[in-house]
Amino acid sequence: MDIVFATGNAHKATEAGNALGKSFTLIMPKDLGITEEIPENGDTLESNALEKAQYLWNKLGKSCFADDTGLEVDALGGAPGVYSARYAGPSKGSEANMEKLLAELEAASERNGAPVKRSARFRTVIALIMDGKVTTFEGICEGEIACQKRGDQGFGYDPVFLPCECNGKSMAELTLQEKNAISHRGKAMRKLSEYLNSCIK
Ligand code: IMP
Repeated sequence: MDIVFATGNAHKATEAGNALGKSFTLIMPKDLGITEEIPENGDTLESNALEKAQYLWNKLGKSCFADDTGLEVDALGGAPGVYSARYAGPSKGSEANMEKLLAELEAASERNGAPVKRSARFRTVIALIMDGKVTTFEGICEGEIACQKRGDQGFGYDPVFLPCECNGKSMAELTLQEKNAISHRGKAMRKLSEYLNSCIK
């Protein structure tokens, strides 16, 4: 079955393809001539995922899904959360975002007069549209923010995120398979996969 994934991020597409398995062919919007940035103006992960999926459904009328992910850091009141991609500013990338995150935790510890808790979680919401019907799936990965970056796999905030299950390894020190087994996106994708498989039976 063909399904369109609202992303231009090759890392995400590989992770999603790996989780969905062989019954599904993932199509990227650019393969269908959609080269513009897909809008995401919501203030929750749910509304962003839905907005992106709806945009593709309206344009293509094909089964499609979109995800939105946020890193929620407890000592920062859940920030950067839905604003994770633009944390250090609209035109900044992952390096600047991680630097800002480490600096904010440092500043919070200074204000507190003692080290603050570094607990955090990645949360992914996937919105699927099939035959005009919307279904959403969620995946959460609990962990901590490291004091410095480690590892060169994955993308985004992976080098500063230490998943609970990984004995101090950062997410960027995991193989793709290891990351998928425990990650927010892996969990949400497996729920999506189960649902899609139940639909094609
Ligand atoms: P979005 O879901 O692509 O909008 O991602 C929001 C922000 O979270 C971006 O800065 C991404 O780089 C980051 N992000 C999304 N997924 C992951 C992940 O699996 N690991 C690390 N960072 C991620």
